[in-house]
Amino acid sequence: VSSLNPPARILVVDDEPSLREFLSICLTRAGYEVECLASGTQAMARIDAIVQVNQAAPRNDKPFDLVLTDLTMPGVDGLALLRHVRALEDPPEVIMMTAFGTTDTAIEAIKSGAQDYLTKPFKVDELLVVVERALEKRALSAENLALRAHLQQGERLDQMIGRSPAMQRVFELIRRVAPTPANVLIIGESGTGKELVARALHQLSLQNTAPWVPVNCAAIPTQLLESELFGHKRGAFTGAQIDRKGLFETAGHGTIFLDEIGEIDLAMQAKLLRVLQERKIRPVGSSVEIPIHCRIVAATNRDLQAAVEREEFRGDLYFRLNVIQINLTPLRHRLQDIPPLIDHFFGLAKTKMQKPLKGLTHEAMNRLTNYPYPGNIRELQNLIERAVALEATSWLTAENLPPPAPLESQAPSPRPPATIDVAPHIGPAANGPRTAEFTEQSAPLSRWPELGITLEQVLSDLERRLITSALEDANGTRREAARLLGITMRSLRYRLEKLGLESEPDPSTRDDISDDENGTLSARTK
Ligand SMILES: Nc1ncnc2c1ncn2[C@@H]1O[C@H](COP(=O)(O)OP(=O)(O)OP(=O)(O)O)[C@@H](O)[C@H]1O
Ligand SMILES: [Mg+2]
Repeated sequence: VSSLNPPARILVVDDEPSLREFLSICLTRAGYEVECLASGTQAMARIDAIVQVNQAAPRNDKPFDLVLTDLTMPGVDGLALLRHVRALEDPPEVIMMTAFGTTDTAIEAIKSGAQDYLTKPFKVDELLVVVERALEKRALSAENLALRAHLQQGERLDQMIGRSPAMQRVFELIRRVAPTPANVLIIGESGTGKELVARALHQLSLQNTAPWVPVNCAAIPTQLLESELFGHKRGAFTGAQIDRKGLFETAGHGTIFLDEIGEIDLAMQAKLLRVLQERKIRPVGSSVEIPIHCRIVAATNRDLQAAVEREEFRGDLYFRLNVIQINLTPLRHRLQDIPPLIDHFFGLAKTKMQKPLKGLTHEAMNRLTNYPYPGNIRELQNLIERAVALEATSWLTAENLPPPAPLESQAPSPRPPATIDVAPHIGPAANGPRTAEFTEQSAPLSRWPELGITLEQVLSDLERRLITSALEDANGTRREAARLLGITMRSLRYRLEKLGLESEPDPSTRDDISDDENGTLSARTK
């Protein structure tokens, strides 16, 4: 364990006080942080409490890295505790202590996922070796989790998901523009995520604690829009019984989002133009102008440029709004985004409807990935929510999804070449039928094969590919490869040995690398 890391945290569970004391002394002396409890019930409660604290505010109370438990205890015994622990999202390693030394119980424990066992009485040396081995394993799986989280980060921005080059460009633009005061115009078909982009601009702006004020210009009757936006004085018109602030003022130093800007009439366009030019508003019925401070983001699903040419939209207003333009590609032209979006909305829908579905059937996944989505992401979300709500089995089937389009109407749109995925390739012969379906690209994480997967195999394959790739980019320099991977030299050596990559990279893994034209870790995450 690297000296930079905090000491590993160990929970000792045994109903025998003298053994608890012995273990506490040995393990504390060896530099670990030790906590002792006298029963399985107490242990479960303590472990669950830590999980809860971490859900509320991660890292307040570090979860245990290792549980060292007695097998035979009154009430909740070692095996029951083991099963409980294994069901956690990030389970600690478990070492079983058995007084009987019968191979049967020990084997049962190992089968249920215990990392190792110790037969009482044991020597201090023996204890420390077994503990260290378990903690090493734990450190590696924790690093795997971190590695995956890191890779997936690039696919998200604020609440948006997207791995396609088109969305990656949008993310980049948002990151660059958000901290500036520039007006932004967002253009895209209905349901492509215009509002989400506007929100992200606000969230990533320097004024994200100031108000976020979305206005649907199409939903407000023309005659009311002016007073809604600019406010009015008491008595300005029938029904105006009190002074009222407009939305531009409400927005303060925050963001006003003028949605469906293409729908406002020419008279309103003229008024809005003045506001943009002078950064001042005049409430209806007032003679006093008020300065505005908010950032202006507008959106439309119309071709505003064409509307300008037809003289339906003022060119000068378009020019003012369009300082920065963000274009959202229709979902049917960024097919790579479909699988992660399915994954995302499937997860949300399951939670929302409290349906513990195990995953999507192959057929359901096929239907969803081949659908043209005229209503874009909103339609994808609706399709999934509906199918989840109606599903009667424990898997999401194609039963309640739209039927596949007839062949002749299917546009011959070739899928873009699958770029390097977080998801691993697994050779078809790697592990028999359990992995065969994973050779198909895109979203293996949501395309669960009938028989499930072998997580260890998938993770070690991913690890192998990343390490080989890092070594390639580092021209074989291990120190540089370790830096690229964000791991220590020691950890890299351990992994090379474990994966049998110790000597020259073997030619079969080089094939994998040639899939990736850039071959760099950073290129993959972009
Ligand atoms: N990239 C994305 N990742 C995750 N969810 C998305 C993404 N884009 C859109 N959504 C979701 O899809 C739905 C539609 O998005 P949004 O309302 O932003 O679209 P819109 O372009 O404003 O549509 P409209 O033109 O109909 O108003 C929302 O529920 C939104 O959360
Ligand atoms: Mg919208």
